[in-house]
Amino acid sequence: MKVVILKDAAEVAKYGADIFIKQIKRKPDSVLGLATGSTPVALYKELIAAYQSGRVSFKNVSSFNLDEYLGLTGTHPQSYRYFMNQQLFDHIDIEKSQTAVPPGDAEDPFSACEQYEHNIKQKGGIDIQLLGIGRNGHIGFNEPSSSLMSRTRVKTLTRATIDDNARFFGPDEYQPHLSITMGIGTILESKKVVLLATGANKAEAIKATVEGPLTAACPASALQMHEHVVLVIDEAAASQLADVDFYKHIEMENQKLLERLGRD
Ligand code: GLP
Repeated sequence: MKVVILKDAAEVAKYGADIFIKQIKRKPDSVLGLATGSTPVALYKELIAAYQSGRVSFKNVSSFNLDEYLGLTGTHPQSYRYFMNQQLFDHIDIEKSQTAVPPGDAEDPFSACEQYEHNIKQKGGIDIQLLGIGRNGHIGFNEPSSSLMSRTRVKTLTRATIDDNARFFGPDEYQPHLSITMGIGTILESKKVVLLATGANKAEAIKATVEGPLTAACPASALQMHEHVVLVIDEAAASQLADVDFYKHIEMENQKLLERLGRD
C-alpha cells in the first residue's frame, strides 16, 4: 500500500485533488467513484477551484457515489445526493445526468442495488475511487463484519456510525439506520483507490487498515488486496502507525525515481 503522510488536512486535500486532476487530464471521460463525509469536502473545494481556473474540465466525466441513506430522497438536505450537488456537482461542468448516487428512495432497494452494479459495469468500471474511512474502519457504509467480497446492497449501520453521523441531523430529525452502499468487492474492482484520512480520531482505523491483519473486522483492511491504492493521510491520522519513517522513506525514494525518469 502506498501511504503518503502529509502535514495537515489542507495538504491532504491538495494532494488528493491533484491525483484526480491528473487522472481526468489523462482520461477526460474518466469514471470517478466519489465519497461523502466531511473529509472529502476540502478536496472537492480544490477540484472546484481547479475547474474555475481552467485547469480541468469535467465535461466528459461521469461518477458513481459510494452510498446513500435508505429512506431519504435526493432533495433531503441530509441525503448524499444533496450533499454531492452542494459540495461539488453544482459548481463544476459535469453533466448531472452522468452523476449517480444510489437511490435512497427506491421502491425496491434490492433491485436498485443490482441495477447500480449493472450501471457501473456498463460504464466500463470505475477508474478511480475516492474513499474516506469511518472510525471503525468502514468504507462506504461497509460496516465491520461486511463480507470482503460484498457487492452493492442494503446495509444496516452500526450504533457507532449512527452516532458519528448524528452531528449532521437536527435533534428531532429522522436519521436513517439503513443505507445502500457499494460493496467491498465493488470498491476493490475500481482501477485505482485513493483513501483520505485526517485527524487523530482516524488513527486507530488507519493503523488497522495498513498494519492490521486482513479482516472483515476492519473493512478498509481489504484494500491491502488492491494493486493501486494510495492512502493520503495527515500526521494526526498517521500517529498510531508503527512504521511512519519507513512509509516516508518509500515516498521520498519514489519521488526521486519519478524525477529521474521525468514522470509525475
Ligand atoms: C460516512 C460515509 C463514509 C465516510 C465516513 C467518514 O459514514 N458513509 O463514506 O468515509 O462517513 O466520514 P468523515 O469524513 O466525516 O469522518
